[in-house]
Parts: sequence; structure tokens; C-alpha cells
Amino acid sequence: MRIAIFNQKGGVGKTTTVLNLGAALNRAGQTPLLLDLDPQGHLSSIHGQAPNEARRSLFAFYQDNTSLDELVIDWPHIGQLIPAHQQLIKVDSIFGKGPAILNKLRVGLEAMTVLAGRPCLIDCCPYIGVLALNAIFACDRLIVPISTDYLSLQAADQITRTLQVLEPVIKRRVERRYLLTRFDRRRKMSEDVRQKLRQCYGNEVLDTVISENVTIAESPFLKQDVFRHNAASAGARDYQSLLAELLARGDLTAS
Ligand SMILES: Nc1ncnc2c1ncn2[C@@H]1O[C@H](COP(=O)(O)OP(=O)(O)O)[C@@H](O)[C@H]1O
Ligand SMILES: [Mg+2]
Repeated sequence: MRIAIFNQKGGVGKTTTVLNLGAALNRAGQTPLLLDLDPQGHLSSIHGQAPNEARRSLFAFYQDNTSLDELVIDWPHIGQLIPAHQQLIKVDSIFGKGPAILNKLRVGLEAMTVLAGRPCLIDCCPYIGVLALNAIFACDRLIVPISTDYLSLQAADQITRTLQVLEPVIKRRVERRYLLTRFDRRRKMSEDVRQKLRQCYGNEVLDTVISENVTIAESPFLKQDVFRHNAASAGARDYQSLLAELLARGDLTAS
């Protein structure tokens, strides 16, 4: 199962969700593959020892047709990673938007021999270009993290319209799940945003919400996931619930 985590808004918890959903899968006995498709490379920097040469990053897949199998590195306590490189920023200008390039990641993932049915989580950059389109074309599910504030509702609307334009090209509906992040139960706004999202997107809004939580905020600086930092924290509980809900809905498989 391939899950892309995308929102064109920055700071909404895309990278945080890839990291901690990956860690939750690991604790459930799986070895997920995480892809860092953001030229900013935040996920790769949390790994701590990801190579910083372009030829060992996803850029080599785009530039030199290096197979994805060759770019995989281990990530203890998570699974595996294919790291980003800042050169990925060039992918848009080098490749434009022809149909072959839009399907490149899907084809590359399907050709992988080491993936063998394991879950794959794709961390996206915060804009629509070749990279994000590659992730959307490659995924079985799209998770859209929505930070719980009013402006995020506009971002959700924008993604929904983008998907409407893309679906005739992809020739299928992109199954999506909206995930409320940075949720603060003390604020009335949080419940308001949740209700408005539900009115618009019904049961595509996940029941799980990710609270605003200091353990989640601290853990990237320690190069840890939320479970390693504090498995008893509210943040760890929330990401555990997210995994349970995705498994229960069939958005992820337990194999
Ligand atoms: N639920 C949360 N509680 C507290 N801080 C969070 C939470 N989710 C994300 N953050 C913090 O917010 C910042 C942006 O999150 P990040 O996952 O990098 O967003 P994105 O990848 O969408 O740009 C990071 O410093 C991260 O640690
Ligand atoms: Mg990010």
C-alpha cells in the first residue's frame, strides 16, 4: 500500500505524520519504506545519517534513472528511507509535465524488488509540481494533514479542486483522508474546523485527530520519532490511533 502525505500548505504536519506513522507501523511489526520527496529534506535530516550526495538520493532516480532499490537505506526503529536532496528542486524545470514523467514514481515503485508489498509512505513538498504530482499519481491513498485553523479550510478546498482536475488524467478517483493535526481541545476553533471539514468531506475526515503536543514538536530535534521520545505521550497515543484507524478502514494492510 502506498500512501502519499500532501498539502500545499507548509507546517501542517506532513513530515511529522510520515515519521510517526512509519514508527507506529514499525511497532506493529512492519518495515515501512519512507520516501522523502521534499527538496528541503526535513525527513532525511531527522534520519540523521542519510547520505547528502545527490547520486544517492531520489534525485538520482529522476536524473540518472538509478533504480529505487539501489537508493534504499535502513532506518533503525522505523524501517527504510530513500532520502531527498536539495537538487530535487530542479526536477520541475528539467522534466516539465509530460505523462511519462508524471507516472515515473509509480512505475519506479512498481519495479522495486525490495519493497515486496511493504507499506510505503511518501513525504511531499508543499507545492504542486512534478514531485507532488508523482506522489499523487503513485499513491493508493492520499492523506491530507490539515492543521486546525481557519486558513487550513481554504487549503483543503484547494487540494480538492486540484484533485478534481487531475482525476480525469489519472483515470481514477484519488482516495483521500483528511487528518486534523495540531488540534487544541481547549480552543473552540478546533471543534469548529472539525465540523466544517466534516460538512464538506464527510467520512473522508478521519476520526483520529493529532493534538498539539510538545513531545511531537521536540522529537525531530532529537532525531527521534514520538514513540522513542516518549511512548506514553499524547502524541504517541494519537499516532497509534491513526494507525489503528487506517488499518480498520483498509487504508493500510497489516501484512
Ligand atoms: N501535533 C503537533 N504538535 C506540535 N508540534 C507539531 C505537531 N505537528 C507538527 N509539529 C511541528 O510543526 C512543525 C512543522 O511540522 P512538519 O511536519 O515539518 O510540517 P510540514 O511537513 O507539513 O511542513 C515542526 O516543527 C513539527 O515538529
Ligand atoms: Mg515537511
